[in-house]
Amino acid sequence: MKIGLFYGTNTGVTEIIAEELKEILEEKGFEIDLHDIADTPLDEMNNYDKLIIATPTWNDGELQDDWEEVIDDYKEFDFSGKMVAFVGTGDQEAYCDNYLDAIGVMAKPVRDNGGTIFGRWPSEGYSHTHSLGMDSDGMWAGLALDNDNQESLTAGRMKKWVDQIAKELGL
Ligand SMILES: Cc1cc2nc3c(=O)[nH]c(=O)nc-3n(C[C@H](O)[C@H](O)[C@H](O)COP(=O)(O)O)c2cc1C
Repeated sequence: MKIGLFYGTNTGVTEIIAEELKEILEEKGFEIDLHDIADTPLDEMNNYDKLIIATPTWNDGELQDDWEEVIDDYKEFDFSGKMVAFVGTGDQEAYCDNYLDAIGVMAKPVRDNGGTIFGRWPSEGYSHTHSLGMDSDGMWAGLALDNDNQESLTAGRMKKWVDQIAKELGL
């Protein structure tokens, strides 16, 4: 099963996570194309019916720089028929009022423009106070990672999430 994994990064954390996630997904049997949105046209997303979007949140709830560059087109993107999962990186302690805001901001156009979100993630084990990345039912809109405070949990969370999405996608 083929998935386009698109990521943005300012300081490299999300890139490393995307590369590690690609390996875990491939071990599980997925075929993964990895794209850095800094040098990939947004239209490349048209080549996949399953997408994973990985992004940090920056500057008190703002998008990562390269996603910010394309956000106007992203908000208009036709997600109909596409299944989209998110991976958010952030810092739940220093930015507890905006932890993972970006995945919430980026999940909205998917829902508004005909797409389906998969890979939502339970909120136990996090200590933030507020996030746009959390749905009204208390689930994260995607896999929630925090390499600033909980790096030792990242590998296990990724493995568990990959098992979860494999089931959701019927692999
Ligand atoms: C100035 C600054 C602002 C940040 N703002 C947020 C924020 O609002 N929400 C959040 O969850 N994390 C925030 N972070 C944490 C980063 O998202 C986190 O370090 C992330 O792993 C960086 O990913 P990257 O290296 O891929 O850019 C901020 C970090 C810095 C240095």
